[in-house]
Amino acid sequence: MREYEDLVSEIMACTRCRLHLSRRNPVPGEGPVPSEVMIVGEAPGRREDEAGRPFVGQAGKLLDRLLGLAGLSRSMVYITNVVKCRPPGNRDPRRDEVEACNIYLRRQIRIVSPRIIVTLGRIAGETLYSMAGLRWRGIRAERGRPVNAVIEGLQVILYPTFHPAAALYNREVLPMLEEDFRNLARATSRRGRSLLDFM
Ligand code: URA
Repeated sequence: MREYEDLVSEIMACTRCRLHLSRRNPVPGEGPVPSEVMIVGEAPGRREDEAGRPFVGQAGKLLDRLLGLAGLSRSMVYITNVVKCRPPGNRDPRRDEVEACNIYLRRQIRIVSPRIIVTLGRIAGETLYSMAGLRWRGIRAERGRPVNAVIEGLQVILYPTFHPAAALYNREVLPMLEEDFRNLARATSRRGRSLLDFM
């Protein structure tokens, strides 16, 4: 736990990229440590920047409901983002910002030690695939397909899906997102065991 606390303190004091200049609060992430399931989003938005907590805005409300479809609740999963500080105006995080922050995500994965990592949206999917040395063929090709991966020496299942914010803007996305979360409980079934067996 000491290792985790040290990591959070470092994120809180981080000046590794320009985003520290405009943030109100860094958003390290939250949830049980260790945790079977890790959810990785893109970057904090305005509400998260104010609260210092991930997914507390509109997208977060939808995420809570989606977790329910997978038989999960927020208290059962560790939630974080690729980038820990809010990009101004909610722009996409830039490549150098994602790279500067990646040391924190790597350490988080080692400490949280998840069996499954659910990535939300293109940027999280691309980043985790790249960390695992896998080729990303786009969100529509990869979403809802669990893949075995090794990240930081840890054998994990990557499970990409859309970002919940996409469903708030594009109604066509919501049924796919719901389907992916319903299937999440079965994501490890190829090993003959359900994800819920590990809870
Ligand atoms: N969108 C994200 O990607 N992460 C958050 O924490 C909130 C909204």
